[in-house]
Amino acid sequence: MRVTFCCTDTQAEPWLAGLLAALPEATVSAWMPGDPPADYAVVWAPPQRFIDEQPHLRALFNLGAGVDALLRLRLPPGLRIVRLDDAGMAVQMAEYVCHAVIRYFREFDVYEALQRERRWAARKPRRRADFTVGLLGLGVLGTRVAQALLAFEFPVIGYSRTPKTLPGVVNYHGSDGLSQLLGCSRVLVNLLPLTPQTRGVLNRDTLGRLPAGAYLINVARGAHLIEEDLLALLDSGHLAGATLDVFATEPLPAQHPFWLHPRITLTPHTAARTLRDESIAQIASKIRAIERGEPVRGMVDPLRGY
Ligand code: NAP
Ligand code: GLV
Repeated sequence: MRVTFCCTDTQAEPWLAGLLAALPEATVSAWMPGDPPADYAVVWAPPQRFIDEQPHLRALFNLGAGVDALLRLRLPPGLRIVRLDDAGMAVQMAEYVCHAVIRYFREFDVYEALQRERRWAARKPRRRADFTVGLLGLGVLGTRVAQALLAFEFPVIGYSRTPKTLPGVVNYHGSDGLSQLLGCSRVLVNLLPLTPQTRGVLNRDTLGRLPAGAYLINVARGAHLIEEDLLALLDSGHLAGATLDVFATEPLPAQHPFWLHPRITLTPHTAARTLRDESIAQIASKIRAIERGEPVRGMVDPLRGY
């Protein structure tokens, strides 16, 4: 069995060693143009030439949860695409989102400013019941985030394409569902995949339907957000602030107004990192399952876009 590895911006050697240790029967190598066709591919944002030169793949493993970059390529019909299914990302996303929600709810940003002024001034407690968290996307990551927020007793509501039953979470779907969720979300968290249907979903109209003083957390993809609409709604006072991990252009350009905006907290696309050991273990066990003719979780439907 031949496994090829093609990931931009990643040092290949530790991945090759890990894949070989998990699949000792395989030949594992970093892809070079002109290489012979492989049986399995492990990729992140590969070039079109890679796809064109690998016509006989039994499966292509995407080293991330989001497949938007991959689906922009011309892919052979019927190619089996498998995304990472949690692999240690869900708990990281839960940490990130809970941290951002609690920082806003408990006003830790205000205390940071007060400390700089050496001021001892406690804020009035806020009512948790007034801080409904609306989750756009109740998939692998959204579900784990919902469970973590429920443990802190925040009211949690969620939006998905198809109806979902999650204990403790009010579920909305369809276009009426989106309006209902927006109308009562004091904090809006975006965990949707980037597809033609979701591109630009965070815009002046949708964010304008949040209650005054609402807070945005975007941890999915930069292209979900119309950045100038967010700036306008922050400047008008309709939105209280935002925590952003993803941007239309990454790395975020040095002159971008988000860097120094007093009500934006940002991180460099790091909310939930791909973890090497967990990912290799998941991919190796799925390769074995495919070899045995068994189904695997995390199959991508290119028509659906995720
Ligand atoms: P997932 O398991 O595929 O879940 C996607 C969720 O979005 C599902 O609940 C799905 O509904 C819903 N959805 C899709 N299209 C929709 C639409 N048009 N309208 C309403 N709901 C829709 O994905 P995941 O693993 O949770 O990951 C979500 C995204 O997070 C990824 O695609 C990636 O872009 C992003 N991400 C970011 C980071 C980071 O570090 N910032 C790390 C990992 C992932 P159904 O349940 O009905 O299918
Ligand atoms: C990261 O953004 C991912 O999609 O895994």
